[in-house]
Amino acid sequence: MASDTLTVIDNRTGKKYEIPIQNGAIKATDLFQIKVTEDEGIVSYDPGFMNTASCQSRITYIDGDKGILRYRGYPIEQLAEKSTYLETAYLILHGELPTASQLADWTHHITYHSIIHENIKKLIDGFHHDAHPMGILVSTVGALSTFYPDGKKIFDAESRKAQTYRLISKMPTLAGFAYRHSLGQPFAYPDNDLSYTGNFLNMLFKMTELKYKPHPVLERAMDILFILHADHEQNCSTNAMRGVGSSQPDPYCSVAAAAAALYGPLHGGANEAVLRMLMAIGSKDHVPEFVKKVKGGEGRLMGFGHRVYKNYDPRAKIIKEIADQVFEVKGRNRLLDIALELERIALQDEYFIKRKLYPNVDFYSGLIYQSMGLPMDMFPVLFAIPRTSGWIAQWEEMLLDPDQKIARPKQVYLGAATRDYVAMEKRK
Ligand code: CMC
Repeated sequence: MASDTLTVIDNRTGKKYEIPIQNGAIKATDLFQIKVTEDEGIVSYDPGFMNTASCQSRITYIDGDKGILRYRGYPIEQLAEKSTYLETAYLILHGELPTASQLADWTHHITYHSIIHENIKKLIDGFHHDAHPMGILVSTVGALSTFYPDGKKIFDAESRKAQTYRLISKMPTLAGFAYRHSLGQPFAYPDNDLSYTGNFLNMLFKMTELKYKPHPVLERAMDILFILHADHEQNCSTNAMRGVGSSQPDPYCSVAAAAAALYGPLHGGANEAVLRMLMAIGSKDHVPEFVKKVKGGEGRLMGFGHRVYKNYDPRAKIIKEIADQVFEVKGRNRLLDIALELERIALQDEYFIKRKLYPNVDFYSGLIYQSMGLPMDMFPVLFAIPRTSGWIAQWEEMLLDPDQKIARPKQVYLGAATRDYVAMEKRK
């Protein structure tokens, strides 16, 4: 009879081991019993966690080969069509879609925590005029830790709830203020009459009008983009959230670490890199030459490829549709033709087909943000705001998981063996 175990024979010793398989996984610690000497058990070596699960999770499901993404079982396509960001954030955090009264209560709390302490404004004022807004966001969200010391009570459910309201509510305010600082414009305060994304647009774009009215198409486009970015299981920034959170600091410090991980060009900075790439290509006619260079190892086709998706990223499909709606309001982005040509050529090129490289979420999102009038520096910030709900959900899941411990990977040591200290005059 088939049993749920893995039989391993260590050819160094001839010994046989039976290792249990649970939920398609073996425990890496079960490998430690495989030894030649008394203390040296086998470890699994996996830079970049290519095939190592760091947790069990019930939040987001991805099938990279089929191009499937679901939050709590709900397909991303249905959420993008029918839900709102705040409802989706509730779903991600609580596991179920809210009832009407739960949603009203949730929306009320998120809306009424959006103001930030005036001293945070002073902190933002201290940044150089051309400070990158992501640097400001990372710093100010980390600084919130000092304003809410009760956030340290991470095993108190009520405290976690309060910090969740604050974080989801204040991220757009920090982002909006960081943006206005870079323009030298007065900060625009939150407007509680507006939706989550409507208010965010207000904090970005309000000028002298008494009441800012977001364009409904742009407000909905931003809301859908936020839904698409809300969670993505164990990506680099979520891993940072869980890793830092595992030493049990308050969630503001962990979110600052997650946002810092998101800042990099291989993660949340990719859509900025896409636009820079499109501008450098300059015209549709230069696309074949550019693709040839990428194939020759000169740089990467930014916005293409994904660690998990080996098919068209389902978020990229939805974003392409939103792009058309935004361009109808704001005019066609001139870089779109270059992007479409790049996609067309890459999708029929042997190099990209063989490596299963398809457009990812970032390929078109930058074009949309640019058309909305946002500078490239703001792109990772626009990713961090909605991802905050995913980070917090993953962090809370980790805290409540009895299997979890402080994150502390092993290493395979290849350095020098013991040697004696060499006095300065004897060194070569
Ligand atoms: N352009 C050209 N070649 C590529 C690309 C690309 N964008 N991505 C991967 N490859 C090649 C790579 O050179 C390698 O080829 P070979 O086998 O000949 O050495 C092969 O494909 C596998 O690449 P990898 O680097 O081992 O794959 P990875 O899973 O470690 O990297 C990735 C995933 C997203 C970092 C990578 O595809 C990449 O750098 N893409 C461009 C940056 C980007 O768009 N990032 C956004 C990711 S989606 C948003 C998010 O989740 O943050």
